[in-house]
Amino acid sequence: MAQFGIGMIGLGTVGTAVARRLIDQWELLRRRAGSTPVLRRVAVRDPGRPRDLDLPRVQLDGDAEALVDDPAVEVVVEAMGGIDRASALMDRALRAGKPVVTANKAALAAHGLELAALARENRVSLRYEAAVGAGLPVVALLRDSLRGDRVSGLEMIINGTTNVILTGMEKQGATLAEALADAQQRGFAEADPSADVDGHDAAAKLLLLSRLAFDAPLTMDDVVTVGIGGVTAQDIDCAALLGGSVKLVALAQREGETVTMSVRPTLVLDGHPLHGIDDSENALVVTSDLAGHVMVGGLGAGGDSTASAVVSDIVATVLAPSQAPPVPASSPAIGDDGAVERAGYVRVRLHPVADAAQLVIQALEDRGISVEASALTQPAMGADQELALRTGVVARDMLARAVETVDSLAVVDEVATVMDCVRPS
Ligand SMILES: NC(=O)c1ccc[n+]([C@@H]2O[C@H](COP(=O)([O-])OP(=O)(O)OC[C@H]3O[C@@H](n4cnc5c(N)ncnc54)[C@H](OP(=O)(O)O)[C@@H]3O)[C@@H](O)[C@H]2O)c1
Repeated sequence: MAQFGIGMIGLGTVGTAVARRLIDQWELLRRRAGSTPVLRRVAVRDPGRPRDLDLPRVQLDGDAEALVDDPAVEVVVEAMGGIDRASALMDRALRAGKPVVTANKAALAAHGLELAALARENRVSLRYEAAVGAGLPVVALLRDSLRGDRVSGLEMIINGTTNVILTGMEKQGATLAEALADAQQRGFAEADPSADVDGHDAAAKLLLLSRLAFDAPLTMDDVVTVGIGGVTAQDIDCAALLGGSVKLVALAQREGETVTMSVRPTLVLDGHPLHGIDDSENALVVTSDLAGHVMVGGLGAGGDSTASAVVSDIVATVLAPSQAPPVPASSPAIGDDGAVERAGYVRVRLHPVADAAQLVIQALEDRGISVEASALTQPAMGADQELALRTGVVARDMLARAVETVDSLAVVDEVATVMDCVRPS
């Protein structure tokens, strides 16, 4: 039976799991692909480093350009990470008419539009299921399964690190710093966790899915990104009192031809599909005109889970190497983030004055904001009392203006937190 030559750049967590599957399950893959994907060549940074897997008949060296140019390599798998060099190597492969499989959301967020255009010019595929949610079939869902639908919304928990941290704060009563240190110790957070904690990793993934969902050439500048750095133990406690949990939620919406995208900490109420997505789990809810709500959930990181998506993309590439990415529609208008209508969560520190909470609620209602639930926290000895409340659905800007009024009330010491709230539909 025919063979299909694979060259892989990177043999770390992901590359090792991919190589292992290509070698161990070649017969299964041959049945599914119609010819055998054979790992012919691997490039790494340090070829002298001992590896914990045996790669017989595979050329392993440090020359990624030579790998791309090698006529024995028919598909280039990019599993090295980083932006500029990885993008340059993918660019080189596509120009040479070789299909590319990648797990690299950062490179695609920065250069994916140009790489997709190159793939179309050269009539080859560019596949990246692993770049979002590892083994979760979210790219396939949007690109293949909902081909006839118009998608209006994406709502997701798509960053495992922040979900581990927020779950730790909720379940163990930890502070953010303690939960982060625990996540680092358990291997769920990097030594430098800023890409996760600041929301940029989730924003890149939201961007890749939004491009597909809305056929739109969107960029990172179009995503409003707020990380979890400001989430406190008090917010976690207040969220529980109001019937929910704080999660980092990535949201994209299309109304008419206007798109908005944001990543921000959000109070997710019990009964919403994203409530109960804990620890390193990821989940995506897609809303479209024909299918309605479709949800996918599971493990969104790790070598094996990511290899599941990479190997699936390799099989798809063997089956259809010239299936180029779809042509994007024209650039959509980017909507005003402040005009997006959501329920809200507000936490206010009060001076110890009779009826202070009532005055805050009244001030909001006077400005057309309905208060659907509220809770007064029991103050520690000598501390201010706190009021947490959730509002009805209102434009974010309108809530922000009403909160400014609340902040100016004499009974209010400080408005500590304002965030979105999502509830079961
Ligand atoms: N890990 C996950 O759970 C996960 C999930 C989804 C997506 N991803 C994505 O998958 C990609 C790889 O992640 P990973 O966790 O496998 O990373 P990793 O463990 O750090 O491995 C990176 C690999 O790339 C090699 N490499 C680095 N620079 C190179 C260069 N200039 N030339 C050739 N090889 C080079 C390294 O070589 P040495 O071995 O010699 O150092 C190493 O083998 C990233 O884009 C990441 O975002 C990872």
